[in-house]
Amino acid sequence: MAKMMWAGRFSSEADPKVNDFNSSIKFDARMYKQDITGSIAHATMLGDTGIIEKSESEKIVEGLKGILSDIESGELTFDPNAEDIHMFVEQVLTERLGDTGKRLHTARSRNDQVALDIRMYLRDEVKEIKELVVELIETIINIAEEHVYTVMPGYTHLQRAQPVTLAHHVMAYAQMLYRDLERLDDAAERMNYMPLGSGALASTTYPIDRKQVCGLLGFTDITYNSLDGVSDRDFCIEICSAISILMMHLSRFSEEIIQWCSWEFKFIELDDAFATGSSIMPQKKNPDITELIRGKTGRVYGDLMTLLTMMKGIPLAYNKDMQEDKEAIFDAVDTVKLCITTFIPMLSTMRVYKDNMRAAAAKGFINATDCADYLVKKGLPFRDAYKITGTLVALCIKKDTVLEKLELAEYRKFSDKFEEDIYEAISLDTCVMQRKADGGPAPEAVQVQIEKLKGRLREMLK
Ligand code: ARG
Repeated sequence: MAKMMWAGRFSSEADPKVNDFNSSIKFDARMYKQDITGSIAHATMLGDTGIIEKSESEKIVEGLKGILSDIESGELTFDPNAEDIHMFVEQVLTERLGDTGKRLHTARSRNDQVALDIRMYLRDEVKEIKELVVELIETIINIAEEHVYTVMPGYTHLQRAQPVTLAHHVMAYAQMLYRDLERLDDAAERMNYMPLGSGALASTTYPIDRKQVCGLLGFTDITYNSLDGVSDRDFCIEICSAISILMMHLSRFSEEIIQWCSWEFKFIELDDAFATGSSIMPQKKNPDITELIRGKTGRVYGDLMTLLTMMKGIPLAYNKDMQEDKEAIFDAVDTVKLCITTFIPMLSTMRVYKDNMRAAAAKGFINATDCADYLVKKGLPFRDAYKITGTLVALCIKKDTVLEKLELAEYRKFSDKFEEDIYEAISLDTCVMQRKADGGPAPEAVQVQIEKLKGRLREMLK
């Protein structure tokens, strides 16, 4: 094994168990690209400011580019004995360039280096997550456009409440996901400040040019407090929190899909490619994907709790506890990407049983509010109309019938306001079509909703 970087200060080698325990290369190797990109910017600045010779800076930059391409081609593999990705890259550079390689770490600490790398890594990941969420929203919009006339029951307390359409129902998720995009954007924007130059904690005595590094790496600005620059992980927490909310939305949608494909509902059927069978019960077709998404939501919440708890008691500035940020935030990022990637094709291939949705909407007195509203339109105060309709519903239940089948004579026993047009007023289609207030389920209102969201998406992606 290579000698430790700090062998000068230490009189004995670290216990191998300590090395393993301390090492983060198993999980931070994935930041190799960001680490090398950051180092290239740092080396360029060191050369431009004259902190190191320009010719040496150029050699370092070339050396780093070589390391990057060798990692990507598989020629160079990560050394599991390295303490972390930062040490590994520097170690290889020094093996390749000798003394020149040793100059890269001038005016820098791993503390500001890791603070930079993780920001750059998450910036790239958030971009990918956002692209997936946009694709998911587009998938939902496609379903909505096909189903503006597909009537289904809307529920409260999982009891049939008022009629909506499948378009309106799924668009509710598109709205939630759009806000998830905004949250991710917002967190990424707040994270986009360049910490390199904070040093270990108290910046540096070298005449560095932080603004140059900031510009080279595409940050909004530099961080203005070196202690904060190396100690802050609130951006991890914010991104994990935005991902947790996003997972919560996916989980609710998943739960509904699980219900919808049960025999009790039979509103939809998943494509065989996105369902699983049972090892014992031949009739089974299980919605495992959605159940896993629901399950994995708990795991992402766990990541968020890990980060919050890890940070809550550590004094300024860097503490090794903070190395624990990576596995948690990486897990959250990996999990949400995996879930959305599987959810999209599952959703776009599911079959919708419109007739079953409609039949369910026709039951359960879903038009009772409309019956009461009918009386209100004929001049009754709402509370009186509500009471009469309640009595009518109770009568229907007793007679094992529904409001649309009740004789007019029966209606008129409770109010002489009822006339032949009651049947039209409480028909399922009328109930949906009349809910055309902005944001309502009527096809024309849903069409507006869809266009509006498409416009906002276009605006965001500009
Ligand atoms: N691997 C460490 C981390 O991920 C970065 C190194 C800073 N370590 C240190 N002992 N100052 O946080």
